[in-house]
Amino acid sequence: MNQLNHNQRDLGQNGREQWATKIGFMLAAMGSAVGLGNIWRFSYVAGENGGAAFLLIYIAMIIMIGVPIMMAEFSIGRKAQSDAVGSFQNLSPGKPWVAAGFLGVASAFIILSFYGVVAGWTLKYFTGYLTGTLWSEPSGGYVDYFVGFIGSPLEPLIWQFIFMGATIGIVLLGIKKGIEKANVILMPTLAILLIILGIYSLTLGGASEGLAFLFSPDWSILSEPSIYLAALGQAFFSLSLGMGALITYGSYLSKKERLPGATAGIASMDTIFAIIAGVVIFPAVFAFGAEPDSGAGLVFFTLPAIFDEMALGGIVGLAFFFLLAAAGLSSAISLLEVAVAYFIRKFGWTRKKTALIIGGLIFLLGVPSSLSNGPFSEFILFDRVFMDNMEFLSDIFLPLGGLIIALFVGWGWKKTEALQASDFGNSTIGAVWLFILKFIAPVAIFLVFLFALGVL
Ligand code: PHE
Repeated sequence: MNQLNHNQRDLGQNGREQWATKIGFMLAAMGSAVGLGNIWRFSYVAGENGGAAFLLIYIAMIIMIGVPIMMAEFSIGRKAQSDAVGSFQNLSPGKPWVAAGFLGVASAFIILSFYGVVAGWTLKYFTGYLTGTLWSEPSGGYVDYFVGFIGSPLEPLIWQFIFMGATIGIVLLGIKKGIEKANVILMPTLAILLIILGIYSLTLGGASEGLAFLFSPDWSILSEPSIYLAALGQAFFSLSLGMGALITYGSYLSKKERLPGATAGIASMDTIFAIIAGVVIFPAVFAFGAEPDSGAGLVFFTLPAIFDEMALGGIVGLAFFFLLAAAGLSSAISLLEVAVAYFIRKFGWTRKKTALIIGGLIFLLGVPSSLSNGPFSEFILFDRVFMDNMEFLSDIFLPLGGLIIALFVGWGWKKTEALQASDFGNSTIGAVWLFILKFIAPVAIFLVFLFALGVL
């Protein structure tokens, strides 16, 4: 009887689970947003695109386009109280907007399949620092070590398997006891760790140069068209936009919470995390004479080489890769939940069964990605190895999903209903929000889309 009451209390009126607390929801949404994108992707994209000027455009994109679309996703999910697909079917039955939902579920498979591979690498590095293997330079150097590791057939798969196992384990426990609880523990830990690392990095010799790279813009870079597009792409990936992750998380929110404040808090936190990650990474890069534009390997071989030179570098490396793995985990949970929420409703399976089957399938889809850095590296399609094709697909699917979401709220949803669902009501800011979703965001996303396709 007790158990029954308890279970009933866990479920909302429509039989779906809900977040226990508003702060739990905020931490979960921040957990989704803050991930490998803020640290690994942000640092190398900012590094390759000129640092401070990129940061400025990136922040502008977040405020002007990212935040309005985030509001759109939360409003859709909370109003419809369903998964990424069901939400569109509830709000606009029989209309093609639901394409955004299906695209979202497909994106969950695609992104998590390679995200799990990269997150697996972070686990390997974390244990490397835990056991001391990485405290000093491996014979052959850090680059060879990394290339050798990701190129081996079996070992990366084992780490990917462990990472996916942890992701599945949390999702199958449900919204409150799994996702919310994991984030309530992970997010504050991450924030504290990142701040400590930031302060430490500022004490290094290269701090002023690193900070100048990040904060004093070289205005001439603003005439490069590619920087705007790189910034918008990064904003989408980092804020977890365009694939229904935030529709799904919004659907576990009760009607009494206010969306605009929560959205502003989540987007600011994601941005602050990326900036502090830059403050951790760039001073260290300059202090040790490395180049900020060494690409996607920045975190996996430039940083370990730097840690090697630092006092207490082993501990810094340990903290850093723990941070990266944990941030990746809280994002992976939200990716898996998009697909799991959909299939629970679609097939009527239990959460446990759904999480195991869908998580298992996503792991399998990630296997060729992992192998494409080694045994399958000769298997090239469209000039890219398998993993790069998956990343490329996500570059198309996220903006496309975001475009449909913006168009749906701007044009497809009744104005009064959209304004009410967002808690903006009749305010001026509500009108501005709808204007952005109608015109500005679609045009901007369209440009990114063309860029991703290589048309621009
Ligand atoms: N925002 C996550 C990150 O920065 C990645 C992500 C994208 C998560 C899309 C969910 C949905 O790593």
